[in-house]
Amino acid sequence: MFIKKLHINIITFFCVSILNVSCSDITTKDEIDMKVEQLVKMMTLEEKVGQMTQVDHRYLEKKSDIKKYFLGSLLSGGGSVPDTNNVRSWVRMYNEYQSFALETRLKIPIIYGIDAVHGHNNVLNATIFPHNIGLGCSNDEDLVRRISAATAREVQATGLDWTFAPCVAVAQDERWGRTYESFSEDPDIVTRLGNASIQGYQGSSLDQPNTILACAKHYVGDGNTIYGTGMHGKIDRGDVLLDEKELRSKYIKPFKEAIDNNVGSIMVSYNSWQSKKLHGHKYLIDEVLKKELKFNGFVVSDWAAIDEIDKNYKKSIIQAVNAGIDMVMVPGQFIESANSYIDFIELLKESIQDGSIKMDRIDDAVSRILNIKYSMGLFEKPLKKFNKVNDLGSDKNRAIARESVKKSVVLLKNNNILPIRKNTRNILVAGEHADNIGYQCGGWSIWWQGGSGKITKGTSILDGIKSHTGKNINLSYSKSGDVDKNTDLIIVAIGEKPYAEMNGDRESLELSEDDIELVNKLSKSGKPIVMILISGRPMILEPILDKCDAILAAWLPGSEGAGISDVLFGDYSPTAKLSFTWPKNMKQIPINFGDTNYDPLYRFGHGLTFKD
Ligand code: GLC
Repeated sequence: MFIKKLHINIITFFCVSILNVSCSDITTKDEIDMKVEQLVKMMTLEEKVGQMTQVDHRYLEKKSDIKKYFLGSLLSGGGSVPDTNNVRSWVRMYNEYQSFALETRLKIPIIYGIDAVHGHNNVLNATIFPHNIGLGCSNDEDLVRRISAATAREVQATGLDWTFAPCVAVAQDERWGRTYESFSEDPDIVTRLGNASIQGYQGSSLDQPNTILACAKHYVGDGNTIYGTGMHGKIDRGDVLLDEKELRSKYIKPFKEAIDNNVGSIMVSYNSWQSKKLHGHKYLIDEVLKKELKFNGFVVSDWAAIDEIDKNYKKSIIQAVNAGIDMVMVPGQFIESANSYIDFIELLKESIQDGSIKMDRIDDAVSRILNIKYSMGLFEKPLKKFNKVNDLGSDKNRAIARESVKKSVVLLKNNNILPIRKNTRNILVAGEHADNIGYQCGGWSIWWQGGSGKITKGTSILDGIKSHTGKNINLSYSKSGDVDKNTDLIIVAIGEKPYAEMNGDRESLELSEDDIELVNKLSKSGKPIVMILISGRPMILEPILDKCDAILAAWLPGSEGAGISDVLFGDYSPTAKLSFTWPKNMKQIPINFGDTNYDPLYRFGHGLTFKD
């Protein structure tokens, strides 16, 4: 018996060595296909099931579970960081986890995913770019490509290799808490910028040193759920009632183009279509996405999303995997009701053994995952070095971020007081949002829900104004808006506080009472007012519209808030145009261009320049 075991181990060792030969020797897709086929043939049921399992590193019961359960992937959800949130700790953490994977019989490397959705936003002092709503207003494909390429370098600097981005939702109802993750209400803008983002993340081939795997999400229809059908909020994870024709033309379209652009992974959406959960939707995942649109990457579930298919977890697993989901995000015990990865693994094995899931389906899922891992060069170079740590938060990347802020700020109104005149002597800056990097970053920034204050390295709006006002301008800051009689100009920043996902679902998009009160107080001074709105979506401006001489929609600009002052002082004449319709009042919502009786406050495509 011992001789036999030794014999098997020797064969395995030579087979694995051949399979793990350097990627430089794997030059064609056929060669990758062949290696994947050979590897799958060698895999046990436990090894296959493990490849399909993704866990948030925070919820590993033991780090050695990576080896014990042959886990194929780890993730860091929002706020999931190493003990010390600095770039070297990330690399060390990645390598420690990868080493457990490399101790397994077949040495299949893990792939590590994270929501680097507007820069490498979990990581302290990374560059944080504007959220997608602002980039949608820039409508600049080259800029978006450069932002994603810069983000890929920062993700690689920390050792990670996969981002759950771009979000290609086509948001229609701004009451949705994830509106800011959408580029636009227009599927054409979403498609073009989604593709530019994928090109930036993935480069021309996945095995290049500075590229990472992209993930188009959330498939499909997340931006068009009906208000009141939400799973946890009012609209998030709700039901899409469109007919198939419109679902295809507006919502499947960005995914079709992403597939044509070689996106390597796609994440399924929490929402339902005609009351059927997407995570169990065989027609839309297997028939449409994989067979009709020929997606040959792998499909990943959302965070514990399969739990919402059926009360019986095993039934959920069977429905999700048979629908075509290849990797399941079984994050851990974040919410009491969530199932653990150990439950998942046992029940998935059971479902295969009792015939509820066919081995062909499992082999297809595992092959897709391994194909991407080979294409990324993970077998060749599973462990990361510290040679890219200086890319994190680099001046070069911050310059791109500041450029993107300038190009995403929409000038909604201007009674000829912008750009600020050279002879302006006394400027008052007011409002909490003027000096709060956390507020200007929004959700998905260091923490899942974002934060307040100096949450990371960057420049606030006030910092930017200070850098533009030399000794000949008296600059003062009053959060509460106390106006000195000598003031020539008031700049006030108001808006939303950070939120993410269902926590941002709102019944009303009215400005807060405090913000309205602040603008009213300022307006009593009789001084000209420039209002900067920091928000994840259009808001109802009616109460203060006539009190402001100029209004800028700055969205969620990220860490380089100083870019806004480049517009205020005329270093950059605004070019951005609204990628979302701006409603007059709540009765109009949802309102999108193309609607009948379309009579918004500002039309889709509106945006002034300094020449208007
Ligand atoms: C979240 C989001 C998804 C994200 C995932 C991992 O719930 O829906 O966009 O990529 O979980 O954090």
